[in-house]
Amino acid sequence: MIVIGGSAQRTETRKIQHFHRSNSFRSKIQMSGEKHANDWSILPENVFKFMESRTASNSAVFLLPTIKEMRESNPHLKLLDVGAGVGSMSVEFAQLVGSEGYVTAVDVNPVVIPRGQALAEQRGVKNITFETASGHKLPYEDETFDIVHCHQVLTHNMDPWDILREMIRVTKPGGVIAAREGDLDTEVIWPPIPGVLKFHHDFEIKIITDRGGHRDAGRQLLSWAMRAGAKRDQITTSFSTWTYTEPEDRMLWASGMIGIALGPNLRESNIKAGVPAADMDEMREGWAEWMKLDNAVLAMLHGDVIIRK
Ligand SMILES: C[S@@+](CC[C@H](N)C(=O)[O-])C[C@H]1O[C@@H](n2cnc3c(N)ncnc32)[C@H](O)[C@@H]1O
Repeated sequence: MIVIGGSAQRTETRKIQHFHRSNSFRSKIQMSGEKHANDWSILPENVFKFMESRTASNSAVFLLPTIKEMRESNPHLKLLDVGAGVGSMSVEFAQLVGSEGYVTAVDVNPVVIPRGQALAEQRGVKNITFETASGHKLPYEDETFDIVHCHQVLTHNMDPWDILREMIRVTKPGGVIAAREGDLDTEVIWPPIPGVLKFHHDFEIKIITDRGGHRDAGRQLLSWAMRAGAKRDQITTSFSTWTYTEPEDRMLWASGMIGIALGPNLRESNIKAGVPAADMDEMREGWAEWMKLDNAVLAMLHGDVIIRK
């Protein structure tokens, strides 16, 4: 979903220009204020709670049996997590490969690194290193890792196949490359609260696509893997969902959206950038209303691929 980093927006200033829909925001949206570029301290803590709610157990289900199977024959697995963000998935990967295995977690945005390190320390996980690196140019020799993974990273890059090609390069023969990407166009939300729909159609999707990202990454993932050089018979592909229906999940999701895009710190910069204040209020109030409704649901399809090298 929405990110606070990404090479498609290297300046970290989220400006979206030229909205064409007559009832859309007219000029530009920012995900963070210019003067706060790269400053995660402006994000409320519940945003981190939202980001850290992603784990290997809930977001890499398609890969778990493969890790287990590979670990049985090799207790020294080396796993690379590309675009690790706050590192909550990477830390669980480190637990899954076991104390004799090792995880390297990289992100193009140096600001996220201390969050991952703190999480690992907090959980007593020692077999992990966090580094700043771009998926476009991974600073590792060919054939270094047994497993190379990314989650919700390709969506935000103009040329996702180039990142996959790099991931394939650093994977050992016999190893696997795994990716999971959302498909924003499959997001379903109920009830159709206008502020929430406005967020989905006019704000969230445009934030991603106007920066060169993809609204339909999930369904394109197989094609991207093939464009990166994988042969069709090396690839296993599946689809999985994100489902937010229970009160706690709804609260997590909605406060994440409010905090990342609509929170008080970013409100002013978005208004300054041309998003009508009334729209910002409508979207924030829409999510606040949605999360309290017992009949509220949100779900989205994801594409999953495993490439066997
Ligand atoms: C939506 S977050 C996903 C984080 C994590 N994988 C997860 O699912 O919880 C996307 C992350 O990918 C990083 N990212 C985007 N493009 C990247 C690239 N080309 N190379 C490395 N990291 C990238 C961003 O900085 C951000 O931290």
